[in-house]
Amino acid sequence: MRKTRKILVIHGPNLNMLGKREPEVYGSATLEEINLHLEKTGEKTGVVVETFQSNYEGAIIEKIHDIPDNFHGLIINPAAYTHTSIAIRDAILLLDIPVIEIHISNIYKREPFRHKSMIADIATAQISGFGMHGYIMALKAIIKMIA
Ligand code: DQA
Repeated sequence: MRKTRKILVIHGPNLNMLGKREPEVYGSATLEEINLHLEKTGEKTGVVVETFQSNYEGAIIEKIHDIPDNFHGLIINPAAYTHTSIAIRDAILLLDIPVIEIHISNIYKREPFRHKSMIADIATAQISGFGMHGYIMALKAIIKMIA
């Protein structure tokens, strides 16, 4: 029998503050609500969704290092590290699974420094500007990719 498919969702810095953080940009849903929604959507499709949030670049990198043999897909919102982290890019380059980059806001409609993503060209796909619904779009898409 085939191993249960497992998807990891990584949330970068300040995303633990969702709900309180600039709700006009990021909406009113908390990270807990988003994670629960992802886990339940996964359950309905027979996929296990694990979520991880850190405000530390190194912790995110170490979590990415644990992916091989443990997860079949990665959804990542690197938050501000999107625009700065060559180290997260290099960690993602170690992977051989679908990777979806997601942003709650449309980073291309915002300040110029947010237009550059260090991982857009190595991710399988990018979702930007759909609010919290983007996470569910990413999950449904990645489930199809790893089916
Ligand atoms: C973000 C966009 C980033 O520019 C910002 O630093 C974040 C969140 C988003 O989800 O829209 O923290 O990744």
